[in-house]
Amino acid sequence: MFIAFEGIDGSGKTTQSKLLAKKLNYFWTYEPTDGIVGNLIRQILKGKYKVDSKTLTLLFAADRFEHNKIIRKNLKRGVVCDRYIFSSLAYQGLDVDEEYILNINKGIIMPDITILLVVDIDIALKRLKSSDIFEKRDFLEKIQKKYLELSKRYNFIVIDTTDKDVYETHKEILKKVKACL
Ligand code: TMP
Repeated sequence: MFIAFEGIDGSGKTTQSKLLAKKLNYFWTYEPTDGIVGNLIRQILKGKYKVDSKTLTLLFAADRFEHNKIIRKNLKRGVVCDRYIFSSLAYQGLDVDEEYILNINKGIIMPDITILLVVDIDIALKRLKSSDIFEKRDFLEKIQKKYLELSKRYNFIVIDTTDKDVYETHKEILKKVKACL
C-alpha cells in the first residue's frame, strides 16, 4: 500500500503523514528527498541557484525516480509519502505543460491513495516561517486551486483542516483510509 499526502505549504501534511505512518506502522518518507538531487532542489528553492521551470520539473522527476528504489523496498510494509507526483502537477503545472510533467514521470510507482489536505490560506501562512520561494499568498491560493482541480480528476481523498485540530484531522484521515484498505 502506498499513500501520498499532498497540500499547500502549511497545510499540515507533514504532521498528518507522520501520524498516519506511525498509526499504521508504515514507512514514512518525503519529497524532495535528502538524496543528491533532492538536496540540489532544496538549494534551488531557497534561491541559491536560478534554473528554468522545466529544469526544476526534470529535477523533481529525477529525485522521484531515485526515491522509487526506497519506496519499492518498503511497499510490502506500506509507505506514507509527504508529497509526490501531484506536487509536480500542482506546482510545476502552473507554468509547465501537464503532459510534459506526466511524460517525464512515466514509470514511477503510483500511489494507491492520495490525500489532499486543504486549509484556509491565512492559517497556512501563519504556520510558515521559511524563505522558500513558493510561500507567497497568491501563489499558495493558485496552488490550492490547482490541487482541488486535480482532486476531481484523480480521485483524491480531500480533507479540510481549517477548523480542526491535529487530532480531529488525524481521526478523519484514519477513518477514510481504513475504508480503502
Ligand atoms: P516541503 O515544504 O513539503 O518540504 O516541499 C518543498 C517544496 O517543494 C514545496 O514548496 C513544494 C515543492 N515541490 C514541488 O514544487 N514539486 C514537487 O514535485 C515536489 C515533490 C515538491
